[in-house]
Amino acid sequence: MEHYFIAVTIFCAIITRISCCDVVKLTFPSGFRVGTASASYQVEGAWNVSDKGENVWDWFTHNKPEIIADGSTGDVACDSYHKYEEDVQWVKNLGLDFYRFSVSWSRVLPNGFANEVSEDGLQYYKNLTQALIDNGIEPVVTIYHWDHPQILEDLGGWTNELMVEWYADYARVIFEELGPMVKTFITINEPKIYCEQGYNSTTKKAPGKTLENMGHYLCVHNSLKAHATAYHMYDDEFRATQQGQIGILTPCTGWVPGDNVTEESIEQHFQFDCGWIMHPIYVGDYPEIVKTRVANISALENYPFSRLPEFSQEWIEYINGTTDFFGLNHYTSSMPIFDTAEELGIYTRDSGIIKSTNSSWSTGSSSWLYVLPEGFGNLLRMIRDQYNNPPLYVFENGYSDTGELEDYERISYYYGYVSEMLAAINDDGCNVVAYTIWSLLDNFEWNAGYTELFGIISVDFNSSDRTRSAKLSTSWWQEVISTRTLQDVPSNSTRR
Ligand code: NOJ
Repeated sequence: MEHYFIAVTIFCAIITRISCCDVVKLTFPSGFRVGTASASYQVEGAWNVSDKGENVWDWFTHNKPEIIADGSTGDVACDSYHKYEEDVQWVKNLGLDFYRFSVSWSRVLPNGFANEVSEDGLQYYKNLTQALIDNGIEPVVTIYHWDHPQILEDLGGWTNELMVEWYADYARVIFEELGPMVKTFITINEPKIYCEQGYNSTTKKAPGKTLENMGHYLCVHNSLKAHATAYHMYDDEFRATQQGQIGILTPCTGWVPGDNVTEESIEQHFQFDCGWIMHPIYVGDYPEIVKTRVANISALENYPFSRLPEFSQEWIEYINGTTDFFGLNHYTSSMPIFDTAEELGIYTRDSGIIKSTNSSWSTGSSSWLYVLPEGFGNLLRMIRDQYNNPPLYVFENGYSDTGELEDYERISYYYGYVSEMLAAINDDGCNVVAYTIWSLLDNFEWNAGYTELFGIISVDFNSSDRTRSAKLSTSWWQEVISTRTLQDVPSNSTRR
């Protein structure tokens, strides 16, 4: 009998622990913030209203339509320039804590420089910011999300070091005009992506330049300097009165186990992917492996210098420490393995890493978006370990389809990724403080046009009104936010 009681007691203890931990795992910690995001060129439209200047995406979509999957543009996009009040109501009805939007540089500074400021352009962002505040939603402002003025591109864009000053002048206008209402600024969204896909070997994104396998290094170099300059400006001139926080955003991909995936291959992948941007900010200078490999391969290619520019000691120190949080955009993972061609002396990739994938993995409508939540947890733990567990904002995470209203796959993606993140917080102590749904609305997905849609709200791009309608994921998120707990994925009988 005694044994029976002991056995029952142990059994109950195990059950209580499992159910207790399950609940903890699926619930957001207290104080955790959930929001959604957009970017100016992807949603605003109104590309030529008032005195707005032309930006690189206006130019690119008008002059290189063949590069955009459906030949479309962001001329009207979701028309959020005219419909921002409705957008704010959607955010409010979702119960979200914050809304991340970006400012279009050429709407505020029509000719790119700060000698001429558009009152109309500024007013739009002031109205949007005020509408958010009036509805109890925190505005989070991205100062630059890929759409710089075309005139600056004609002067070299991010490959011209003067861009650092031009960007800083623009940032000052934003701090002065919006800073009194905004507590969180993101200086720059994903330098890695616009640099690699806009200035390197592909012509996927504006400005669409192919610059000798070097343009992306110059572009990141100048973007990091621009970011640090804006950070110091905020610190020196605005922080005391505005009491906000400011940081940079980088996309990092995760990894999952597989043949030939080793600790070393993961580390090398991480440094080229995430460390290239964040090591200069959290530790100082580019990661050693990045410097050494690019220098060695450049030498093999007979360059008299490394294609990766060097920071002076002053810049290393100036950039180090310039973020108040780790801004992370995360979508997908791979199996990073060493490129075996290097054993034969063939160096085709500076990183030396191949991101291998498995054809059985499911994807969204974006071919690169493999659904692998496990990789997210691996990444969060690596960031914790590499950078001393900084406060981390997930500023983008989401899934693309072709616009289905019954978006079961999207909900399933969110369920997997958010539970992985909650486990990393609750079980592994990762200091994640906020999560952002990408995106509020279906919108212009850069070179994919409107063929890859990430919204949790549908937009009818065939109606002149750009009518918004709820998807299944709208109500799922509403429930998650009001309960602060992940909800089961609804079952779809027609799903395979
Ligand atoms: C990251 C970018 O910041 C955003 O603009 C884009 O739409 C998403 N990734 C999805 O590709």
